[in-house]
Formats: sequence, structure tokens, C-alpha cells
Amino acid sequence: MTRCAVLAILLLAANGCSGGAATSDAAVAAPPDPKSGGAATVLDVTANSYSNSIAGLSDEQAGDFSFGHSIFSQNWVTAPATTSGTDGLGPLYNARACSTCHSQDGRSPPFSSSGGLLGLLFRLSIPGRADNGGPNPDPVYGDQLRQFAILKVPADGTPHVAYAETPGKYGDGTDFSLQTPTYNIDGWNYGKPSAGLMISPRTGPSVIGLGLLEAVPEEEILAHVHPPDADGVSGVPNHVWDAALQKTVLGRIGWKANQPTTLQQTAAAFVGDIGITGSLFPTGTCTSTMTACLHAASGGDPDFELTDDRWKAVGFYMKSLAVPGRRDIDDPRALQGEALFQRFGCTSCHLPTLHTGADAVADVLKNQTIHPYTDLLLHDMGPDLADGRPDFEATGSQWRTTPLWGIGLLQTVNHHAFLLHDGRARGVAEAILWHGGEAATARENFRLADASERSALLKFLESL
Ligand code: HEC
Ligand code: HEC
Repeated sequence: MTRCAVLAILLLAANGCSGGAATSDAAVAAPPDPKSGGAATVLDVTANSYSNSIAGLSDEQAGDFSFGHSIFSQNWVTAPATTSGTDGLGPLYNARACSTCHSQDGRSPPFSSSGGLLGLLFRLSIPGRADNGGPNPDPVYGDQLRQFAILKVPADGTPHVAYAETPGKYGDGTDFSLQTPTYNIDGWNYGKPSAGLMISPRTGPSVIGLGLLEAVPEEEILAHVHPPDADGVSGVPNHVWDAALQKTVLGRIGWKANQPTTLQQTAAAFVGDIGITGSLFPTGTCTSTMTACLHAASGGDPDFELTDDRWKAVGFYMKSLAVPGRRDIDDPRALQGEALFQRFGCTSCHLPTLHTGADAVADVLKNQTIHPYTDLLLHDMGPDLADGRPDFEATGSQWRTTPLWGIGLLQTVNHHAFLLHDGRARGVAEAILWHGGEAATARENFRLADASERSALLKFLESL
């Protein structure tokens, strides 16, 4: 029996052959494609599944990949140090290594096992816009809270999170509980921040498949832009500053599509998160009143702390991480869940299929049919998920649809299930239940579905 036939029988069973639902579910009845990243897919279900390189790299590219990997994983140290090329940490920083927040190329939990903040960082800004159209940094603290600093330099301040349980019920009466976070920063070491300070807590997302997302032509992304339809779902692009091109371009990367390219995000992470300056962002992040910070030794002399070859190697590494293939493509429950994912309206934002164009850093990224489950566009997700902090054209309640490829392997790779931009959801079901705003109808379709349909949907997401 063919897979289509199996699925057809299953849908009949699931829907009691009811007209409308069966017709719309049939739209996904084609056999699923296990190659989520096209030719850039890797079939790996182990804890290493986010860390494979795409196939077909030249010797030079393979060298860049492993060099990039080593820099991504290394701990930076205070300058001056005898270890050449790894000094220049801080003076202010969030972590010593990229992999602290993107553990195993995935996502670190918001907290470490000892309870301290781990993958969570706090973007800061005050009302108004910077000259480049981006968030307006606090004049003293800049655009990000750094809770660590090298010796003799005061850190910015100390963030705290408290969670309150908020109970809810599924349509069938089953209880659930969501943990609502409250964020608070104290111990400001350089005086009070400006009035109206806005805080956006964010965890580091996984970094798989970025070369593919970057290779989706702009026209394909913009083709999905639309005003609110009958379900209340719209889709809008972000436009952000490209520091290399010195102009405003389409945003694709980050929780609010607030970065244009992986390479720029990489340079921004080095300077912002670890305090490592490079040619794109040559000045550090000490502001004018941070005396000890300004006078601290810098690393890398006479070059930048981050040499261009290292920056580009890490950027290439980020763009050439393969996407793990979809699993359980013959599992009837997962296939039922896939149909429900469409019927519930999840696919209005989590688009199952996009295509890459001819412009990419490696051949296997070019002209691929891919299944990232994102439209790379912004959606208003309602007040409960809002951070209240605009980011270029994204409002305080808009977020970029998160790609869902690889989500089923998060537990295997990173040993936790914390989801959403600030890691507040303790698993996929909670992540869905937090959806509001444009996604409220889809959330209600899930919440009001019976337990067997809900679990089929989760089974589908686990197969990605
Ligand atoms: C303190 C934690 C932290 C550290 C350290 C860190 N990141 Fe991140 N990373 C984040 C957060 C948070 C985001 C989301 C940023 C946003 O939305 O503004 C992110 C986003 C990214 C993205 C975009 C992913 C996507 O799908 O949108 C890339 C690429 C990335 N980081 C690379 C790096 C590199 C390279 C380094 C080391 C130089 C690094 N990161 C260090 C927390 C971190
Ligand atoms: C209106 C657009 C929209 C719809 C409809 C929608 N989502 Fe989302 N989804 C998003 C956005 C935007 C985020 C990121 C929100 C955040 O992190 O605060 C997200 C995040 C998620 C996440 C967490 C991903 C992660 O890695 O943190 C999951 C899981 C998810 N959605 C599943 C679903 C499912 C299942 C449905 C259907 C019941 C659905 N979504 C419907 C836009 C949408």
C-alpha cells in the first residue's frame, strides 16, 4: 500500500469522513519529504544532529567549517594573554563562548542547572530610534545588559526572573499551567538607566539551516506579505540596518528578524555578547561614563580582537550547518498531526515549504525545496508574549515566525524543552498555548481539540 493510501484511510478514520475537514486535510496527503533542508539535510538523530556540516564542501570550505567550529566553541580570556587570538574578553560580557548560549549548535536553557541565567540575554533601549532606524540605546548602558565583566570593571547590573503559574484548561477539561515570567534588573553599577527603559529578554535560538534561510530570495519572502485575512493572520517584513552595505535591507535573522545576515549577526554577537571587536563593529561597547571599561586592555593588537578570517570562518560555519531530516514519515499519528497542523491554521505562519535561489555560499544550498516551517515574517502574537520593545519596524508585540525544523531533536541535543523567545514554555504544548494575537484562532483550535488530536499534533512536531 502506498503512503498516500495509508494517509487517506487514516484521515477517514480521524475525521469520520466529514466533508470540509477531509478536503482540507487531503491537501497535505502527498508523502512527506524527509529532506527538510533539501540537499543540505543530514539524517542524524543523535545529540550531534545539529552540528553536521552540509555535504559537498570543498577542502577549503571544510577547513573553514572546522576552524569556525573551534572559534564558536572556544572560551575567550581577558587581555593581554599568552594565548594569541583568544584574548579580548569583555570588558563587559554575557558569556565567554558562543556555544555557552548555543550549546551543541542548539539552544541553551534560560538557566543553568545551578539556577543562574545561562542562555537568556536582555536587549535594552529607550523610546525613540537610533540614526540607523534601530532601537535607541540607553545612553549609559547601551543596547544590551552585560551581567559579567572582567576584573576591576563593574558589570552593568543583575537580572532576575520570577515565574508565576497561570492555570488554564483544555476544551475537554484537562488542566494545564503556564509559567508567566516577570523580569527585573537591579544592582545597576553606573547609575539609574534612563526613564522609559525597555527590556527584551531573549534566549539563543538554534543555529541550524541559516545558509538555507539566507538563500531564500527576497521576492519569495515578500510574496507572503499580506494584510489580515479572515483568520486575522497577516505577515509583515522587518527592514533593518545592514552595516556592511550601509543601508536598510530586509531582516531575516533573530527573534524579530532584526538582523539582515548571518555574518552581521555573528559580528554583532562577538562584540555584544562576548566583547570581541572586529572590522564591522570596531568600537567596543563601553559608553563614555564607563571609565574602567574604557581603559581596560584590548586583545588582538595590532589586529582586531576578531580577525576577519576568524569572523568569516565562524560566519561560514553558521551558514553551513545542515538541517536534520524529518523522521517518522510513515507513522500514522505523525501524519494525522501534520494534517491537523494545517487544519488548525498553523501553516498560515509556519509555512511548510520555501525555496532557495541560486545565490548561496555552497552548492547544496542553491535551488533547494526546503521545509523550515517559517515565513520569516513578523506577526503580532498578542500582549502575553509582547516585550513592549520595538526593534526596527517590529513592534513590541511582533515576533518572527520561528522555524520548526529540528524542534523534535531539541531534547536529544540540549536535554531540555524550553521554547519561545525567552524560554518560558516548558515544551511544545505550552509554546502553542502562549500563542495569542494573530495566532489566537490557531491556538484555540489546538486548545479545544480532543486529547488524541492534540497528541497527534505534538507527535508531528516531534518528527521534525
Ligand atoms: C549570552 C548568550 C549568547 C551568546 C554568548 C551568543 N549568542 Fe547568538 N544569540 C543569542 C540570542 C539571544 C539570539 C537572538 C538575538 C535576537 O533576537 O536579537 C542569538 C542569535 C544568534 C544567531 C541568529 C540565529 C537565528 O536563527 O536567528 C546567530 C547566527 C548567532 N546568535 C550566532 C552567535 C555567535 C557566532 C556567537 C559567538 C560570537 C553567539 N551567537 C553568542 C544569544 C547568544
Ligand atoms: C500568526 C502566526 C502564527 C501562527 C498561526 C502559529 N504560530 Fe507558532 N509561532 C509564531 C511566532 C511568531 C512564534 C515565536 C513567538 C515567540 O517566541 O514569542 C511561534 C512559535 C512557535 C513555537 C515555538 C518555537 C520555538 O522554537 O521556540 C511552536 C512550537 C509553534 N509556534 C507551533 C505552532 C503551532 C503548532 C501552531 C498551530 C496551532 C502555531 N504555531 C501557529 C507564529 C505563529
